[in-house]
Amino acid sequence: MPKAPAPCSHRLLAARKKHPLPNHAWPSADEASRSRLFSPCTIGSLPVSSRTWVPAMVPWRATDEGHVTPALLEWYGRFAEGQPGVLVVEATGIRDVPSGPLLRAGHERFLPGLSELAQVVRKRSEGQTRLFIQLIDFLRVRKRPVREDYLLRFLKVQERHREALGIQDEDALRQALIRLPDEELAEVLSTREWEDLQYGARERVTDTHLDTVRELPKALPTLFADAADLSRRAGFDGVELHYAHAYTMASFLSRTNDRTDGYGGTREARLRLPLEVFAAVRERLGPDFPIGCRMLGDEVIPGGSRIDDACEYATQFARAGMDFLSISKGGKFEDAAQPKVGQAIYPYTGPSGLECMPTVYVGEPGPFGRNLGLSKQIRAAVHATGVRTPVIGAGGIGTFTTAEEALLDGSCDLVAAARQSLADPDWWRKVRTGHGEEVRRCEYTNYCEALDQRHKEVTCQLWDRLPGEGEGIRMSRDGRRRLCAPTWPGSSPQ
Ligand SMILES: Cc1cc2nc3c(=O)[nH]c(=O)nc-3n(C[C@H](O)[C@H](O)[C@H](O)COP(=O)(O)O)c2cc1C
Ligand code: SF4
Repeated sequence: MPKAPAPCSHRLLAARKKHPLPNHAWPSADEASRSRLFSPCTIGSLPVSSRTWVPAMVPWRATDEGHVTPALLEWYGRFAEGQPGVLVVEATGIRDVPSGPLLRAGHERFLPGLSELAQVVRKRSEGQTRLFIQLIDFLRVRKRPVREDYLLRFLKVQERHREALGIQDEDALRQALIRLPDEELAEVLSTREWEDLQYGARERVTDTHLDTVRELPKALPTLFADAADLSRRAGFDGVELHYAHAYTMASFLSRTNDRTDGYGGTREARLRLPLEVFAAVRERLGPDFPIGCRMLGDEVIPGGSRIDDACEYATQFARAGMDFLSISKGGKFEDAAQPKVGQAIYPYTGPSGLECMPTVYVGEPGPFGRNLGLSKQIRAAVHATGVRTPVIGAGGIGTFTTAEEALLDGSCDLVAAARQSLADPDWWRKVRTGHGEEVRRCEYTNYCEALDQRHKEVTCQLWDRLPGEGEGIRMSRDGRRRLCAPTWPGSSPQ
């Protein structure tokens, strides 16, 4: 069976041209106070102080058991000092299963830590920031195996393997497979087996031969509802269901989902589980608690969902009563770069990953506000049905001008900035108070994303360049990088 060549890293695929950071003027405090960006709004019935939003970012600071740590409190406390209207806590696991240093909300023992986190954000934002949590489910992803290990231990020997090599004895067959050159091995293995060997085995929502995957529609509504309920009790102001990128719920929505059990195939069937999950969460949390989702405006993979699917999904979610729709793009496993042996595939290394977190090396028209066209179309589709669910736009937004224009031209109702907020968590407050010239501007070269890929504590390269402020600065485990953005001298939240 012919096999697709391994995709190259997006760094190779990216255009070489470097897009310069846009020149623009920062507003005075007076201009900012009259802007749409710093005008209040509501998410459901929840008042929000401004239309500024820090979307979910995994910082790799939880314990290996998924608990909140002092470093994590500091991370979110630091974002809170910038007083965004909404701060979304990183993708947080809904199951009670080991998942490394990813935050978790799948058991009562996580309640005290999450409660402390909510208190810290409330205090350090002086009550200005609403704290949401992103709830995620993901399927099992194994590391790329050593070739010999895979052929000796992981490959399930089938009759077709025996026939291909004319060897009946299993041990002898495995040894013969090890001796085969890659081109011949690729012919003997199925496409899936070859991919498991080259990229690491990865469960898909279409693996309905696996009990756990077949039963996802039964399990997930309750799991999401339980984690959402725990988050509410911990003091979060809202819940964001993670329906984007490479994870379970986005995979149900994907056009590539051809399950035949009523949860795949047609658009309606692909929407069924995401709607059922939302209904379960809504039922548990009641009509007034803000619940929305992060979803893709475009999967950017061959055969994947496109903007017309996204408009339909968004419309259905809005009609069902979601309180906000946060739009992202890409970030899929299907086109990710081949990981090194012993490492796991990372969904932001291929062309769809580059669209998700565009760098200054991305193709035309460059990274700045790159994905706003998607949120604009989705917002228009939702409005056309007579519903006014707030739409959040993201992607390369790092200036007041880009943000304000996006709001004024109908691209979105709130503006999300991830990396700019990472580079300078105070940037919203600096802009609002007329100190835009002091904003430490993100360079969009993805040093932070490379750390995320290696599951290292995420930091910004711009923090490291600043002179140290003396003792007491918390450093990364390797002792080389400061863990939090430098403080903004001489200023406190106001
Ligand atoms: C280090 C890092 C971690 C991220 N983690 C998440 C996440 O947990 N959930 C999510 O939906 N998006 C995640 N993202 C994507 C961002 O929320 C955002 O959509 C993306 O970076 C594009 O926005 P920006 O151009 O403002 O950075 C992450 C991005 C970065 C840089
Ligand atoms: S590391 Fe680079 S891309 Fe990431 S936030 Fe800092 S400047 Fe921006």
